[in-house]
Amino acid sequence: MKKHTLILTTAAIAAILCPSCGNDNREWVDNALDTAAYQLDMTAKKVEGTGFIPRTVWTGYDVDFLASQLEKDPSEFVDSLWANPPADSLGRLKLGGIYDWTSGFFPGSLWYAYELTGKENLRKEAEHYTNLLYPVRNYKVTHDIGFMINCSYGNALRLTHNDTIKNVIVETAKTLCDRFDYRIGCIRSWDFGTWNFPVIIDNMMNLDLLFLASKITGDPGYKEIAAKHAMTTMKNHFRPDYTSYHVVSYNDDGTVECRQTHQGKNDESSWSRGQAWGVYGYTSCFRETGDSVFLNQAVAIADMIMKRNVAADLIPYWDFDAPVTEETPRDASAAAVIASAFIELSTFVPGEKGKEYFTYAENILKTLSSEKYLAAKGENAGFVLMHSTGSLPNGTEIDAPLNYADYYYLEALKRYIDLKK
Ligand code: GLY
Repeated sequence: MKKHTLILTTAAIAAILCPSCGNDNREWVDNALDTAAYQLDMTAKKVEGTGFIPRTVWTGYDVDFLASQLEKDPSEFVDSLWANPPADSLGRLKLGGIYDWTSGFFPGSLWYAYELTGKENLRKEAEHYTNLLYPVRNYKVTHDIGFMINCSYGNALRLTHNDTIKNVIVETAKTLCDRFDYRIGCIRSWDFGTWNFPVIIDNMMNLDLLFLASKITGDPGYKEIAAKHAMTTMKNHFRPDYTSYHVVSYNDDGTVECRQTHQGKNDESSWSRGQAWGVYGYTSCFRETGDSVFLNQAVAIADMIMKRNVAADLIPYWDFDAPVTEETPRDASAAAVIASAFIELSTFVPGEKGKEYFTYAENILKTLSSEKYLAAKGENAGFVLMHSTGSLPNGTEIDAPLNYADYYYLEALKRYIDLKK
């Protein structure tokens, strides 16, 4: 109880004085936090008691438009697209279950919003939605448990220190490590599909949970698996220009079976969120290991992103290789992940180059905090940001809010405020 009071007091003072932001920044940061707190609280109350987690809104799609974005003939893929939802559900809140890969983001956003505003209702809601995820610690069929538990319980631990939370994190890390193959040197991502051993670039985001488990237990094994996974991924996922493939599947002897995409434009394209996961993941790996090979990788990916992201307002199109028209969907989630990663990376890179990453992230955050991307209070089905893209080739979540866009936006704001202090 005392600890909660202390956290609240510190956060409340920070929010009121916003000493971090400086006068020039105070207005947009305050507005962003105020909007986020309002939206998250409204949605938390609306969904509470259902046992589900807010994920996105129901969206439809236009096959001809998707075909034009993929530069394909509509007949090539029309059968693989998801059915359009009924017209009366379009734009309405879509929930996910606790085993959905995105289940940790909403509780995580509530933790960040609580931390940044000191509002006690947000803490209570964060606890409620985090507790829903307790069974996930034993969920064996996906790598995504790193995302799910680190964003929920990981933030809970950061703010409340509690042995039960530690146990959940360590149990989940054990479950995740069971998916590591020593011959291949990677954690298996998916159990569906016809790949022999698929690993996706997104898997870099699950490593933070393993680093945390090593810190909690003092056992370096989790960290070693994370570092090995990152090394193998560095070797096989990246092209010479530091763009990355989405899916790399391995044969049992560790050789590469194939390199493909699942959510990008085509196998050789650079799916925007995949590039964002990469720079974020290698920045984390450097933070946790101090190995400069990871820092160099993060810097190279960051420089590639700044070169390849051609969107004038810096919010990437859904794929760096998508044909650009007025209608090309953006991916605010990729923007938020890049902003969060770049702010952290800026602290590891001295001089002008570090400043360049920080300024790039700051510009993204200012754009995301403008009315073009930030929801008006009470709108956007209760989400904070508009205009993300989940999976265009699969016809899902196109130009929609996404709970992970909100999560990384809040994390980036937290990192931004901390750095400005
Ligand atoms: N991890 C799945 C995605 O980024 O859409």
